[in-house]
Amino acid sequence: MPYTRREKILDACIVITFVATVCTVILFALLLTVLRPRCPVQKILPSITVASDGSGDFTTVSAAVAAAPQQSRKYFGIAIKPGVYYEEVRVPKEKTRLAFIGGGMGITVISSNRSWANPLEDTATLDVKGNGFVAMDITFEHTGDPTTGYTVAVANDAEDTAFHHCTFKGIKGVLKASGFPQFYGKSNIYGAVDVIWGTGSAIFQSSAVYVDKPYFPGQEQVPRALTFQQRSSPSSKEGFVFQGCSIDAAPGTHQSGSPPVFLGRPGGAYSRVVFMQSYLGGLLSPTGTGWLFDSSLSPATTLYLKEYNNRGPGEGPVERRITTGEAAQFTVGSFIEGDKWLPKTYVEYTSGFL
Ligand SMILES: *[C@@H]1O[C@H](CO)[C@@H](O)[C@H](O)[C@H]1NC(C)=O
Repeated sequence: MPYTRREKILDACIVITFVATVCTVILFALLLTVLRPRCPVQKILPSITVASDGSGDFTTVSAAVAAAPQQSRKYFGIAIKPGVYYEEVRVPKEKTRLAFIGGGMGITVISSNRSWANPLEDTATLDVKGNGFVAMDITFEHTGDPTTGYTVAVANDAEDTAFHHCTFKGIKGVLKASGFPQFYGKSNIYGAVDVIWGTGSAIFQSSAVYVDKPYFPGQEQVPRALTFQQRSSPSSKEGFVFQGCSIDAAPGTHQSGSPPVFLGRPGGAYSRVVFMQSYLGGLLSPTGTGWLFDSSLSPATTLYLKEYNNRGPGEGPVERRITTGEAAQFTVGSFIEGDKWLPKTYVEYTSGFL
């Protein structure tokens, strides 16, 4: 068959159309790649959902934890819908990298009320042993009777843990921060006695600590301390740092500042607590070392309670203050090496001074 001029033109047209189509597709694909938002998902997405009304995968937080993978290397998100969950939640060692994602502080609430029994892990509302744990937008409360012992809302013994937008509520020993490193950002902590305690390395950033009234009638004149840090050797890295925090009386408690609340009660010979760039309210003792000494613990010179760039009536005397250079070792980037592990949690933080 002779190849006519007409057929040649037709063939050429087909080829040109084909090439043009391919080019257009490639161009669109390139454009889409270039124009795609640079930061697609800046959070941990939930894999399962807890809802007390039965609309989720589980009705209790504990059941969701039981169903979560073990030794996970990636984050496993558990959404917890609004509601009050009356549970004692345990995150055991083998449940690594769980992320609890609530509906907001005071909106998703986990609550329990059995006060201290030995061991403590039996009675905390949330007990964390699994490394890499993250919690956001949740209230953890313990409503037990403080006259029989500690009322621990969260006992955190794990490494690389981050809490963001969380509320911790109790009276005595509300938050146990042991294990390290730990980060608590934009959170609220309510308590009256030894509010934050433990052997950990923890930074509390841009958070509020509300000191409640003495924990039971007849104790109004008993001095109280905000922290009970238990660093026991000069070489260990532990300590608590409060940066950009507000420490004040709980709203509506009308406390006069007498007896004053002390910043720390030494839980070990090398206890270390630093308050920087924070507001220290009028109920705190603005004189002396900032330590509350009881009969069992004498004023050791190895204790470290320092302040840097604070403000407010509870700010301590010059002897408590440290230089910018000394304070720089207590930032998130330095003290808990946050830049190495916090980005994986997607929790907001500031690495250096605020
Ligand atoms: C403690 O919590 C349990 C379970 O939610 C509840 O049934 C009980 O009434 C509570 N007890 C007190 C004293 O609040």
